Amino acid sequence: MQFIATLNQGFGIADCLQFENGPGGLPVASITTSQASAQVALQGAHLLSWQPAGQAPVLWVSTAAEFAPGKPIRGGVPVCWPWFGPLADKGMHGFARNLPWAVRASRRDADGQVVLCLGLQDSDHTRGLWDHRFDLELQFTIGPTLGMALTTRNTGSTDFTVTQALHTYFKVGDIRQTCVRGLDGCAYLDKVQAMARLQQAGDVRFSGETDRVYLDTPGDCVVDDPVLQREIRIAKQGSHSTVVWNPWSEKVMADMAPGEYQGMVCVETCNAGPDAITLAPGQQHGLRASISVL
Ligand code: BG6
Repeated sequence: MQFIATLNQGFGIADCLQFENGPGGLPVASITTSQASAQVALQGAHLLSWQPAGQAPVLWVSTAAEFAPGKPIRGGVPVCWPWFGPLADKGMHGFARNLPWAVRASRRDADGQVVLCLGLQDSDHTRGLWDHRFDLELQFTIGPTLGMALTTRNTGSTDFTVTQALHTYFKVGDIRQTCVRGLDGCAYLDKVQAMARLQQAGDVRFSGETDRVYLDTPGDCVVDDPVLQREIRIAKQGSHSTVVWNPWSEKVMADMAPGEYQGMVCVETCNAGPDAITLAPGQQHGLRASISVL
């Protein structure tokens, strides 16, 4: 409790930002304003929920998700960093999503949005997995639009290369009736077909396991959901790749209940595959997503 009390003293904002013990006892920042509500777990700088006023929750979290120290959380917005996908025997999607991040700043901006900034730096543990010095910062802007800005800084003395993602899980009414617009004509690497390079024709529709890295995609994507009667727009910067994922019933995961695939889709703002980012000492890169609901 001391830890939570110290966070509230340093970074709590009366009536709109409090720190508390969240699911599984993981510390979370809980944000409520007249514009939106959100919850961010400090482990992984993991956004668990975002709900603009007057809208249904936008993000999906599995009912079977595990909330435990060092374990990835199934749903919300995991931060995949410094590698996206598998890396030798080091596991999927890097270590940033499994580590506790520090709170660096919080404020209410002139528009009444809450800005929360979390950070992670290299340690003996991270250098054992990935031998580089870095500073990673994720700034959330919680308002009618959700802003996420992930900044990677090379604080060491040699170049490094990262792949990364803001791995957004969206809640949808029925995956079979959902489509993703904005990727027509784009090339993609199909993980379900041994990374075959294919080309998207029309909107992305779902009828089975879908796991694709779309290339050269700096533009907006829209999740069109006729059942929940909404469109979720994902705008981005610093990203030229987009991953679209639904595991369908093919992929069995302990932290996802049977049938739940029908109510979610991931449209991920990435630097993945050939869209890797190399930073020289002192350089930085920003990966940003801006999400709105119509
Ligand atoms: C997606 C990948 O980004 O994340 C999939 O493209 C992967 O291949 C999925 O299955 C979930 O990964 P994890 O490590 O959270 O189970």
